[in-house]
Amino acid sequence: MHSMSDATGSPVTDLTRRVAALALDHVVDPPRGADPVVRFASPDELVAAFASSVGLALGADAPPHDADAVVAAARTVLHHSVQTTHPRFLNQNFAGVDPVAVVGDWLAAALNTANSTYEIAPVFHLLESALLTKLADVAGFPTAGPDQGPVELPPGLFCPGGSIALLYALQLARHRLQPDLVTAGAGPAPLSIFVSEAGHYGAGKAAALLGLGTDAVVEVATDHDGAMDPEALRRAMDDAVAADRTPLAVIATAGTTVTCAFDPLDEIADACAEHGTWFHIDGCYGASALFSPDHRHRLAGSHRADSMVWNLHKMMGMTQQCTALLLREPERLAACFSSGADYLFQTDKQFGEWDSGDRTYQCGRRVDAVKLWLTWKARGDAGFAARIDHAVAMADFSRMVISASDGAFVPLVDTGFTNVVFLWVPPDLRPLVPGDLTDDVRDRLHRLAPRIKARMQAEGTALVGYQPVHGINAFRLLFMNPEVRPEDVDAVLDHIARYGAEEWTSLD
Ligand SMILES: Cc1ncc(COP(=O)(O)O)c(C=O)c1O
Repeated sequence: MHSMSDATGSPVTDLTRRVAALALDHVVDPPRGADPVVRFASPDELVAAFASSVGLALGADAPPHDADAVVAAARTVLHHSVQTTHPRFLNQNFAGVDPVAVVGDWLAAALNTANSTYEIAPVFHLLESALLTKLADVAGFPTAGPDQGPVELPPGLFCPGGSIALLYALQLARHRLQPDLVTAGAGPAPLSIFVSEAGHYGAGKAAALLGLGTDAVVEVATDHDGAMDPEALRRAMDDAVAADRTPLAVIATAGTTVTCAFDPLDEIADACAEHGTWFHIDGCYGASALFSPDHRHRLAGSHRADSMVWNLHKMMGMTQQCTALLLREPERLAACFSSGADYLFQTDKQFGEWDSGDRTYQCGRRVDAVKLWLTWKARGDAGFAARIDHAVAMADFSRMVISASDGAFVPLVDTGFTNVVFLWVPPDLRPLVPGDLTDDVRDRLHRLAPRIKARMQAEGTALVGYQPVHGINAFRLLFMNPEVRPEDVDAVLDHIARYGAEEWTSLD
């Protein structure tokens, strides 16, 4: 075996093995049941927690520490981190990382390369191509077919997150409108982007960064549960045209962040076709419904999009991040992002036509494909479908518990998928009709949710997010972790009810 004593003078083999063992134990035997979801601590308490090992700050002349101290520090990291694999972590639209994905990520990290040229990442180029072809096929985009093997120009790109992928998509949309965009810069004609009121805030940020301005973003009305109203979209597009603005893109959301509503893609595609507008789907959260034969109908019409973003690190349990941007016209990437840098993309080298780096904005790209590819090979299409079906089954179970709660819980919206949005109702307010609340009661209920949340954090029993829905702070259970069982749902709802009862009496 090679020694790991290197030019830095610090032998780290023992340290590496011990920290790797800690991480591996965490992956194969994650916390569950009554184990804490979080040991919530203030910043001062966290600084104090590291004081007994290596200290948190890196001083002006940071000394090397021995393996025991660094391993102790790694334990502190684990101890105080939020346990997002815990089945009672229902707080975020990522949860329950797949252990195969974690070790896949380690494999990619161990081989530490950039997915820019075939020369330094030959296997990763092929894996990425195979994955993009499969994902595009699942979404109904034109492909050579998943059985054809990897292609030099796959139908998309892996990106560092959904927000960056949206930037790519909007730049490609602008390029279709204005073919000299790259050399001449953006023309003076004002453009508009349409997204629903429940769409992700990334649209405004992307518009600002691309120089379109947030005023270019038109927020389209939704129905009660958060799906875009297609008639409101048509009116908004007509209004933009009447005001001499060009509709650049419509961002349809397949799985909104708060309620997991699915915009009507086919009707939105029709509106886009009438105006010649780029049709983009933000499937960051909900595109994974496509894996389930029982739920893929929620994305009917996805095959008509020009682009779609899909975060596999959300419902599918990939490590952060794993984002696929799927494209109808992938050749547009090179038209927008090629540099032709001759130190990297030499035209006289072997297999240079595979280089992905000359059609991306980034120079080096993290390898996010290995973990997804390994997991897909281990689980198969059926395993991916089962993950989605289980998530919906647990959401259905919680909907059933809520509806059988004699008014202790009240749903605020119901999209029938993986998000369950509800209020806990104090006994003196039952039966509660959300639409009939007086301002005073509404205000008190609004202030109750943060107090319930603080109790969860203090006791570490669960983590559930809250946010205003129809003007009142409501809890939101997000299901995707395959480890969630009915007893976890019961326990989480019981905790919310207990904290709610205790906090309500002391709320002024
Ligand atoms: C619907 C939706 N779109 C976009 C995003 C942004 O994705 P990312 O965090 O990968 O930038 C999110 C993140 O939660 C989301 O829920």
